[in-house]
Amino acid sequence: MALLQILCYPDPRLHTVARPVDAVDARVRRLVDDMLETMYSADGVGLAATQVDVHERVIVIDTAPNLKRPHVLINPELVARSQELAVTDEGCLSVPEIYDKVQRHAQVTVRALNRAGETVEYEASGLLAVCVQHEMDHLLGKVFVEYLSPLKRDRIRTKMLKRLRDGRRS
Ligand code: NI
Repeated sequence: MALLQILCYPDPRLHTVARPVDAVDARVRRLVDDMLETMYSADGVGLAATQVDVHERVIVIDTAPNLKRPHVLINPELVARSQELAVTDEGCLSVPEIYDKVQRHAQVTVRALNRAGETVEYEASGLLAVCVQHEMDHLLGKVFVEYLSPLKRDRIRTKMLKRLRDGRRS
């Protein structure tokens, strides 16, 4: 396994729309394993392939990283969304040290392929629902800061660019 480099906002590659995975083969399983290792190493609870500059519909999530019970979602789709909404403080490995409130569906039902290439479908609520929606946004080229006001987003962009100039990632 290998640690992958995580792209940082406002890297334009984060706005790439991912394409579906053709087949869950050894290459895709290696990508999944590398993404999991990268996510755990960065103390994240979710990572989309977009963030490691691979533009295919692959997501890993683990809302209880101490227990190491990962969710692997390949070609995910939402088959149901609750009308009820919930606001959560979100962060992102591509936007280090920035947290802000985002409103999303409180529950979603997601269907995807798992690491074995089997179809799985389940209802997610709480932090898992937030992660599923946040990571699926990445696959569409959307970063959570795009839900914030233009003023806040500009501030974050400026801060990130300054960090890059200063030569530190986080
Ligand atoms: Ni993110």
